[in-house]
Amino acid sequence: MSGITTVETQTIQTSVFLPFNSGQSPIALHRLRFTVQMEKRVVLITGCSSGIGLGLAVLLASDSGQRFKVYATMRDLSKKEYLLECVRGCHADTFEILQMDVTDQQSVLATIEKIKENRVDILVCNAGIGLMGPLECHTYYTMKKIFDVNLFGTIGTIQAFLPGMKQRRSGRIIISSSVGGLQGVPFNDVYCASKFAVEGFCESMAIVLQHFDIQPNILILCAKLLCGMVSNALEKSRYTTSNDSPLSSL
Ligand SMILES: NC(=O)c1ccc[n+]([C@@H]2O[C@H](COP(=O)([O-])OP(=O)(O)OC[C@H]3O[C@@H](n4cnc5c(N)ncnc54)[C@H](OP(=O)(O)O)[C@@H]3O)[C@@H](O)[C@H]2O)c1
Repeated sequence: MSGITTVETQTIQTSVFLPFNSGQSPIALHRLRFTVQMEKRVVLITGCSSGIGLGLAVLLASDSGQRFKVYATMRDLSKKEYLLECVRGCHADTFEILQMDVTDQQSVLATIEKIKENRVDILVCNAGIGLMGPLECHTYYTMKKIFDVNLFGTIGTIQAFLPGMKQRRSGRIIISSSVGGLQGVPFNDVYCASKFAVEGFCESMAIVLQHFDIQPNILILCAKLLCGMVSNALEKSRYTTSNDSPLSSL
């Protein structure tokens, strides 16, 4: 991310309709075509192998105005096929997939080096994992993993991209939180704790970042978006549940 920023520009055709003022035809509209040179917004999204990250990557990469260059990252590139299938037909220069594990700082730093534009305008910290079930069912390792991804993965990613944003005095950081980051949910305690922590982190950071014109936004996602998150969380509970555990009777 260091060095001189190269600015990628593109030509966008925009149509503007101006009413005639000559009194000729009341319904006549004059179509003025002009082109504006507009810089693409560079967006990096974590956790794009499924769910919300995948959906957002496809949405932005297929923007009809080609306003975004999307770096869709995922920890396991063997899962990229579905995403590739979804973006098929998108403009080739608006989309790229990169490997990035948010719990591995080396992987995060290596990703930064691969960004051709040498900058990220919008960082979307979406990667997250869930965990459901009575506390006694979870191993220490499983609970720690939730914090490693949801909290430290988010913090580590932001920490890596922040110097570039501060240097440019611009940037936007979007973080996937949850209703579980605002209120406790039964049998979702460890996950909620991790999202509460994310909320505290962001609230504190927002005060400092406003001095650098960097805008952190927390997205409160509600559990109605039943995608990978919930089924993965249930799957994980099953792995950690023994026959005599409280979960086995549910
Ligand atoms: N869906 C909901 O209802 C809901 C509600 C509230 C909040 N959220 C939040 O929204 C975000 C996305 O959720 P989702 O429903 O889209 O879940 P999802 O389909 O399970 O997607 C989660 C993504 O995070 C990735 N991920 C996990 N560990 C990672 C790591 N160490 N490094 C990089 N990526 C990693 C997963 O990759 P793998 O495929 O490799 O595991 C996957 O791509 C999460 O932060 C979640 O807490 C979702």
